[in-house]
Amino acid sequence: MNRYAVFGQPIAHSLSPRIHAAFGAQFGIAIDYRAIEAGRETFAATLEAFARDGGRGANVTLPLKEDAVVLCDALSDRARRCGSVNTLLREGERWAGDSTDGVGLLRDLARHGIDARGLRVLLLGAGGAARAAAFAFLDAGARELVVTNRTAARAQALAHVLGPPARTCAWDALRHQAAFDLVVNATSAGHAGDAFDWPLAAGATPAACYDLSYGRAARPFLAAARAAHARAMHDGLGMLVEQAAESFERWHGVRPETTPVHEQVRAML
Ligand code: ATR
Repeated sequence: MNRYAVFGQPIAHSLSPRIHAAFGAQFGIAIDYRAIEAGRETFAATLEAFARDGGRGANVTLPLKEDAVVLCDALSDRARRCGSVNTLLREGERWAGDSTDGVGLLRDLARHGIDARGLRVLLLGAGGAARAAAFAFLDAGARELVVTNRTAARAQALAHVLGPPARTCAWDALRHQAAFDLVVNATSAGHAGDAFDWPLAAGATPAACYDLSYGRAARPFLAAARAAHARAMHDGLGMLVEQAAESFERWHGVRPETTPVHEQVRAML
């Protein structure tokens, strides 16, 4: 039987096995998809053993998305551009790498009625997750993309790679910015559970706020967004489902229906 898996650390609580099982059920396919714990030191050997045991496809999550790039013999344009791989496909004796995070984000935003075309977007963070989101917003035709990060040099480096209409703004200078249409939290700060310090001016109410994280990790940012009277707030659980659907289609050649799975996964949280 063909095998599929998600690799990461920690991985025990990953929802991906259940998401892929739900997609498979739509087509009457029993999917052998497991969560496999691997850290940066063990990933290469674990992935090799998985391929030997019939591994045909894999998802890759924290902290392995950049390491996966190096282990691929071929990369899609979007994976190369983001410097990040979340989807591996076995092609003969080699791994091909793709990144479905950006398209997953755009699909989830569309589900919430948000089309990034023409929007003024603020992106908080400049790590791997922010990078995938940033390219997605440029692809979608955002009018302006302001990147801000605790470590300013990292935001500058990302904006440099992106080019206009991306630019940076120092975190402390955000309070002087006019209101954004969309504010996206791509920092990993919420994982520590600390309160989120809202950086925008009181009158600059954003139309929508989105956290790439979900569950407990998204709470501090979304609570701050609510206190700032943002008109809409969403966590990244929908992005998880949408990026999974894109991976599923790459592996199985059929596109699953995501609407019922969004509801099932929300109930699992
Ligand atoms: P990921 O792949 O999740 O993006 P990453 O590449 O380690 O992980 O990036 C983490 C991001 O969250 C970075 O933008 C980081 O800011 P720094 O570049 O200054 O490290 C940001 N981040 C992490 N903890 C943070 C905190 N407590 N406050 C603000 N930003 C934080």
